[in-house]
Amino acid sequence: MMHWSPQLKAMVRRIVRGRDGVLADGEFAVPDWDAYQMDIHRPFDPIEAPDVEHRVVRSALAALVESGILASADYDTQRFDAMRAIVRERFDVPWTAITPRVQRLIYAINAIHRPAVMVAAGIFCGNTFISNAGAAIGPGAVYKARVLVGLEIDPIEAARAERNVRAIDDSDAVRIVAADAVAFCAGFADPIDLLYLDADDANGRGKAIYVDILNAAWGKLQPGGLLLAHNSVNNASQMQDYFAFVRDPVNCRASVNVVLDGEGLEVSVR
Ligand SMILES: C[S@@+](CC[C@H](N)C(=O)[O-])C[C@H]1O[C@@H](n2cnc3c(N)ncnc32)[C@H](O)[C@@H]1O
Repeated sequence: MMHWSPQLKAMVRRIVRGRDGVLADGEFAVPDWDAYQMDIHRPFDPIEAPDVEHRVVRSALAALVESGILASADYDTQRFDAMRAIVRERFDVPWTAITPRVQRLIYAINAIHRPAVMVAAGIFCGNTFISNAGAAIGPGAVYKARVLVGLEIDPIEAARAERNVRAIDDSDAVRIVAADAVAFCAGFADPIDLLYLDADDANGRGKAIYVDILNAAWGKLQPGGLLLAHNSVNNASQMQDYFAFVRDPVNCRASVNVVLDGEGLEVSVR
């Protein structure tokens, strides 16, 4: 039987579906998503040419516009470059599963949507927090946010995240909190404009905890508010209840599984 390498699959997909990927049945996937690989311990090593990364992310943003999730696919790429450069220079990142494509995608979604209140749950060392908040603080800022919350249950990692973020900005809008995201969101009083989910429950539920965090935050998520959920590909089996909720039009106006790498990001709008 013929062995189909990820590279061969990407070539065939490009011929069949085109270079820039397709939006179909609630999923946007680029042809080479499974051939695109990052060493999690060397996240700043270039994987592809910047113009290719930009084109890939732009095609995903265009799919989110087509789905009615984003109003535009335009963002300031120079500001993004400045954010990436300072994170690379000043952040202590022991490892991260956020690939350069997804870092750019998350930044661009925030830069376009401009959440006044952003909550990120399960931020580990802060790399995911800054991928979101970097659109509002530091050299990548394109707008002013009111509150940017980063939640991390492990106090050692929360402290590292705080040090990392403070190394690039001392904004009063930032609140890094060592707390359980479910309890914090249940008691959070502000309306939420963007909720980023990346917590990984240590008691065996893994990414199934997204539903608990979502339930705790749902009443505060504004109409038009965005949900970003990481690991929609490699942890899809743990996210079935989450998918059932956000893909139900009674709850979310639209939801797209954006597949630029082997991790995936489910993007939904209330
Ligand atoms: C897999 S890591 C996220 C890493 C991120 N995807 C990256 O690549 O940088 C998940 C994080 O969620 C945190 N976590 C787990 N349960 C949590 C909870 N209930 N509230 C807040 N954080 C939680 C863990 O301590 C861990 O740091």
